[in-house]
Amino acid sequence: MFNSSTTPSSWINIFSREEGLETVYTNNMMVRLIASKNGTEIIHHRLARTGVMGLTPATHWDELESLCLLSGSLRVTYGSETSVLYPGDKLVASPVHEHVCIVAMENSEFLYVSSAPVFQSYQRSVSGFHELAVQIALKDGYTASHCERIRRYSLMIGCELNLNAIELLSLSCGALFHDIGKIQIPDEILMKPGRLSPEEFDIIKQHTIFGRDIMDSPENPFLHVGSKVAEQHHERYDGSGYPYGLKKDEIYLPAAIVAVVDSYDAMVSNRPYQPARKKTDAVREIASLSGKLYNPQVVNAFLKVVDTFTYED
Ligand SMILES: [Fe+2]
Repeated sequence: MFNSSTTPSSWINIFSREEGLETVYTNNMMVRLIASKNGTEIIHHRLARTGVMGLTPATHWDELESLCLLSGSLRVTYGSETSVLYPGDKLVASPVHEHVCIVAMENSEFLYVSSAPVFQSYQRSVSGFHELAVQIALKDGYTASHCERIRRYSLMIGCELNLNAIELLSLSCGALFHDIGKIQIPDEILMKPGRLSPEEFDIIKQHTIFGRDIMDSPENPFLHVGSKVAEQHHERYDGSGYPYGLKKDEIYLPAAIVAVVDSYDAMVSNRPYQPARKKTDAVREIASLSGKLYNPQVVNAFLKVVDTFTYED
C-alpha cells in the first residue's frame, strides 16, 4: 500500500482534480479514486452490507487486478468457487478469467488496484443506473427502496443456494431492475384504479419483454447480465405465469428467486389497494405455494433466511 513517504511528489497533481470528480456514490457503494498513473488506478471502495461488486472477464483484457480488504468481510465467488475474505486478505488475478461476484457480508472497505483504467466506466454505469432508477420511481408507484429491498432479499437467497458468480450478478442486477419494462406501459393502464380488462392485463404482461429489451440494449451494457430475470420474473413453477408459461427448471433460477421475493414484498408492503399483511402470514402463504407457484428449492432457502430480512425504507 502507498503512503505519503513512498508517494512520488509528481502524483500530487493527480489529486488536485475538482472534488467530486474522483468519487462515485451509489446507495450502497462509495468509490474513490486515490491515485492513477500511466493507466494504473488505485481505488478505495466502501461497500455497505449486502452491496455487490462484479468483475467480468473481457476479451482483449489482460490486466492485473488486485483487491486488499481493509475492514469488514467479503463473500467472493470466483466462477463457482466461494470463499470469505477478512481484513488483510487479498485477491490477485491477472487477468480475471471468470466472473467474480463480491458481496459485502458487513460494511466493508477495500483497496482495488487495476493496471488499466476502470474508474470512468464506474462513473458511466453509476450515472446510467441513477437515470433508470429515477425513471422507474417516476413511472411506478413503487419507490427505489422497494427495488433495493427486492435486490437485497434475493441476494440473500442466492447466497444460501450457493449460486455461481454470474447467477449472483444476474440476480443482483435483475432484481434491482426487474420492473424496468413498466416505463413503456401507458400510465392510464399502469395506474388504473380498479380491475384491468383482459386486454389491459395483456399489455401489463408486456413489461417483462420490454424489460428484457431495455436491459439487453447496447446503450445499457451494465444491465445485460440481468435481462433474463426481468424477462422471467412472472413465470410460475406450475406453468401458470407469463410471458411464456415456462415450468419448473425451465425457469432461470435467479428469476424464480425474484418471483418469490417480489410476491413476499408485495404482501408485507402497504399498497394503494391493500394494507400490509403480517410477516408471519406472508411467510405462511409463500410456504403453502411451494411446488405450486414457487420453486420448492427457492422456498426452502427463503424460509431459512427470511428471519434476517429487515424492512428498511
Ligand atoms: Fe413485474
